[in-house]
Amino acid sequence: MDCSHILQLQLRPNIIDLGWGHPDMELLPHAQIQSATNVALQRWGGAMLTYGIDHGVAPLRLKIADWVAKYEHVRPQIDEIMLSAGNSQALAHICTMLTQPGDVILVENPSYHLALRILRDAPVIIRGIPCDHEGVDVDTLRAVLTEYQNTGQRVAFFYTIPTFQNPTGTSMSSARRHQLAQVVADCGLRIVEDDVYRELWYEQEPAPSLWASMPRGTVIRLGSFAKSLAPGLRLGFITADVTTIRRLAGSGLLDSGGGIAHFQSLIVSEIMESNEFASIVSVYRQRYGARGQALHTALLPLQSHGFQWYRPTGGYFLWMKLPTGSDEKQLLSRLESRGVSALPGQLFSQGSLGYAALRFSFSLYDEATLRNAGAIIVDTLMS
Ligand SMILES: Cc1ncc(COP(=O)(O)O)c(C=O)c1O
Repeated sequence: MDCSHILQLQLRPNIIDLGWGHPDMELLPHAQIQSATNVALQRWGGAMLTYGIDHGVAPLRLKIADWVAKYEHVRPQIDEIMLSAGNSQALAHICTMLTQPGDVILVENPSYHLALRILRDAPVIIRGIPCDHEGVDVDTLRAVLTEYQNTGQRVAFFYTIPTFQNPTGTSMSSARRHQLAQVVADCGLRIVEDDVYRELWYEQEPAPSLWASMPRGTVIRLGSFAKSLAPGLRLGFITADVTTIRRLAGSGLLDSGGGIAHFQSLIVSEIMESNEFASIVSVYRQRYGARGQALHTALLPLQSHGFQWYRPTGGYFLWMKLPTGSDEKQLLSRLESRGVSALPGQLFSQGSLGYAALRFSFSLYDEATLRNAGAIIVDTLMS
């Protein structure tokens, strides 16, 4: 069936497009969502179809609290959780509610290009802080923050993706987490943690979120069901201190429209109650993990030619640094002429990245297609 008129994903004929960070639609849990929808409608009737409570439905918030407590060993109270329509909506909402025109928002450089788009919609100044495979360069972060504070300019928050970052695919090391906690304590920095890939780990469970590791009131964590279940649900959650949650949930938007994603949240509550959530996530881990490994293995011949990357151990992405002097755009157009596409590193940069890179996503295609794409990439980049 041609679904192009209902999807964001637009594929071009004869191109294996590794630019899209979208899930494989074949792997999405249609059947489970269908039966959970029936169960939820049966249970809630019209209450599922009217305006919902502003923080989001309590049954799902309680299940999120259980899930977080199990994996991160810190249990958010129910009033420390609110539901969102996913991390994109949550980030836009935070900008609306917690920033003032002219505020500064610090971001990792590189960072998720579409989060940068969301931040650029707000009347704020965005400043990139270099980051490497261990996470943000905390010394630079501290220096930049101090510089702004000395001139009286308000830094609203630092937006970070510490777990299986987009685009780098790597996670913040424990040394950097400690250093960051120190900056938070010393300088009163507030953190917005985008935790969208937490469930998609392929080897080792990730470290607990910054929200779970730092004092209450310092971190707003954005969790999403977009990668752990399905992005079309448009459902996520925020964990933060009670005051911040009260402020976010006290918006005119929620006053008028009621809780975000009310219908979907009751469906996902059923999925979490029946333990299907854990089994869906475990299938994703297995399938996407194998895909990441397939692409990594296919690309290995490039490692002796100055191309550098870290083997993906979570998330959707392989971030390849190109040899010094490479031209991203030129390499990409050569790749496209051979039938493979990716995204240029510069897209993820606020300011300059200082090196050339490509982001390959391995979520959309099966291993055979990724091996084929990998062989084309090797051949093109080595010639
Ligand atoms: C880092 C990051 N944040 C947020 C999103 C989007 O999240 P959501 O679908 O929950 O809005 C993505 C999707 O690719 C992402 O990579």
